[in-house]
Amino acid sequence: MAADVLQVSHIDCPPFMDQRPGTSGLRKKVTRFAEPHYLAMFVQAIFDGVGDLKGSTIALGGDGRYFNREASAIILRMAAAHGIAKVVVGKGGILSTPAVSNIIRQRQLKGGIVLSASHNPGGPDGDFGIKYNVANGGPAPESVTEAIFALSQRLSGYDILDAQAGTIDLDKIGTQRLGALTVEVIDPVADYAALMEKLFDFARMRSWIKQNGVLFDAMHAVTGPYAEEIFIKRLGAPAGSIMNFVPKPDFGNHHPDPNPAHAEALMAAMWASDAPALGAASDGDGDRNMIVGPKLAVTPSDSLAVLAANAKLIPGYAKGISGVARSMPTSRAADVVAAELGIESFETPTGWKFFGNLLDAGRVTLCGEESYGTGSDHVREKDGLWAVLFWLDLLAATGETVPAILDAHWRRFGRHYYSRHDYEAVDSAKANDIMNGLRQRLQDLKGRGGIELADDFRYQDPIDNSISEKQGVRLVFGNGGRLVLRLSGTGTEGATLRLYIERFEPRTGNLQLDAQVALADLIAQAEDIIGIKRLSGRAQPDVVT
Ligand code: G6P
Ligand code: ZN
Repeated sequence: MAADVLQVSHIDCPPFMDQRPGTSGLRKKVTRFAEPHYLAMFVQAIFDGVGDLKGSTIALGGDGRYFNREASAIILRMAAAHGIAKVVVGKGGILSTPAVSNIIRQRQLKGGIVLSASHNPGGPDGDFGIKYNVANGGPAPESVTEAIFALSQRLSGYDILDAQAGTIDLDKIGTQRLGALTVEVIDPVADYAALMEKLFDFARMRSWIKQNGVLFDAMHAVTGPYAEEIFIKRLGAPAGSIMNFVPKPDFGNHHPDPNPAHAEALMAAMWASDAPALGAASDGDGDRNMIVGPKLAVTPSDSLAVLAANAKLIPGYAKGISGVARSMPTSRAADVVAAELGIESFETPTGWKFFGNLLDAGRVTLCGEESYGTGSDHVREKDGLWAVLFWLDLLAATGETVPAILDAHWRRFGRHYYSRHDYEAVDSAKANDIMNGLRQRLQDLKGRGGIELADDFRYQDPIDNSISEKQGVRLVFGNGGRLVLRLSGTGTEGATLRLYIERFEPRTGNLQLDAQVALADLIAQAEDIIGIKRLSGRAQPDVVT
């Protein structure tokens, strides 16, 4: 024991002042994270902020992006120095975000560290990120992330096991030692695939795939090995059914974000005459999903509503769902389904962490966000492959096509036409002026031009009563229209303004319009009221989803 203690060094270092976690952990350029002591100081803040780690077991894994291995090595040495008993780490340092969540829950761990900047580009000039998940498997709540941030502001250094203590071979499955720390390197896929087999009817999906075909785009990111195991090995899909399935540290120089703008090759395949019946993609760390039918992309908001309406057809949800939650900017399509099913629905701020309490309390079974995130109480993260398998199983159960399912859904519940317009890398001062300018006019706007509600969203968690303020401005119109404006909490360059536009069309109305056409009036009204283009000098949004 004494020898282990002697190998620990305390490295003196002044605090870094820019370590406030955003919507989903700390995200910065790789160049920032690779600066001497930068990552280690944040890890020290995590370990101190979380507390009680001595003798505990945690999980560690990342999406394989550039700097993943270097960061893993530093974190393991720091875990050893902090008296953590054991770290469970995915082979190669790889674990998808939902897989980390599952491992924490199944093995009843103290928590886990996820290394990812999600859908942000990777590589030496790209982004890196780190976040801590707590014992329920979900992202640390704001109370914890704020404590971590506060500590990061006043640290004077960090504790780390000396490099001479040796290294861990991350490519070797099995148990190894690093000082007093036990490191268990595991197959990143096995536990997760087993969980999916419990929730879905693999036999029925297998024969459906044979008849109809599937195409999954892993975008050179973490879901590649998961997709290979599940689609090819367990569901018998032909080899060409998965694309970009070899994870690369720079994601093949692409933006690993599953939306129509960034998954171009998948979209092209799904618009071709020989398109398979289901196309899908996931993001850098495997928690996002996009669902595509032949010549049709399903909006994430509609996806949540469809899953909620049909959950009983899926083995894992055959008993029915207790409730649905969506982030505030997500369209209200799921609320309509919940009302019809007679179950609760909740509106939370953006960020998956806000669903944790509702899921733990059993108040909701399904959750979703407009940002291509869908999930359920099987883990405490959104789950990309889970959503794809849910759709697949739904298609297999009903024998319907994606367009037919959507059409039937809208005919039953009406349609929420929906779009998000992003203005990226806007000068931060300008973006704040636009937000604050709108905030100051909220009182005036109420009652004008059909606006019935104009506020800055404030959330009180129904379980622990914690309050989150200033979560985005909502302008709700009497005719079922809604505009939402907020600043992204995940960008790493300047500010990203997100404008969310939504309009309700009753079930007897015109349900087959292109969303941009259906929303054109509201989009023009948004410019009149908010003036993003006028005030930012941008001619159009950078990304439209
Ligand atoms: C991440 C979070 C989501 C969030 C999304 C967009 O994926 O896990 O919960 O919806 O980022 O966040 P942003 O703040 O950039 O709109
Ligand atoms: Zn992600």
